[in-house]
Amino acid sequence: MWLYPADYVINEPDHEVHNRDANELISEIEGDILYMDPPYNHRQYGANYHMLNTIALYDEFEPSGKTGLRNYERSRWCIKSQVSNVFDDLVGKARFKYLFLSYNNEGLMSLEEVRRIMEKYGRYELIEQPYQRFKADKSENRNHKATSTMEYLHVLEKV
Ligand SMILES: C[S@@+](CC[C@H](N)C(=O)[O-])C[C@H]1O[C@@H](n2cnc3c(N)ncnc32)[C@H](O)[C@@H]1O
Repeated sequence: MWLYPADYVINEPDHEVHNRDANELISEIEGDILYMDPPYNHRQYGANYHMLNTIALYDEFEPSGKTGLRNYERSRWCIKSQVSNVFDDLVGKARFKYLFLSYNNEGLMSLEEVRRIMEKYGRYELIEQPYQRFKADKSENRNHKATSTMEYLHVLEKV
């Protein structure tokens, strides 16, 4: 495997990059537009992308279990019983004028659930876009057999 350094564009505008739990960070930032692209299913990114995390951290760790996974943070956005609460918490605390959420029709939160939460905080709008389904597994064993999926862009103007 060859790893090449990324080409960074050094430019003038001020920006900040954070590597934090979104529900903690949200109380410390504000702005015009908040775009949210959270995990939408139970697959934990720390488990699926552990190789990339190890490359990025470039540290020593003790592989554990059959797969040799490193320990990883479990996101509440990937847990069905918790995701509505963390989403409501984030939207409620957000000091942003416009909020956008990318999610799809196979997400842990239903369309109605997302709408119910967002509508509490302002003017809500939904944009739908059919999309070719990404097939990560063999067709006979897939949970979702549909070949297309519906991508939702949930829009909220906070009042
Ligand atoms: C659908 S991906 C976003 C992909 C990104 N928009 C891109 O184009 O590269 C969801 C991301 O949310 C991160 N994530 C999960 N739980 C989080 C949390 N509680 N706070 C902040 N980020 C979280 C995951 O690690 C993952 O990188």
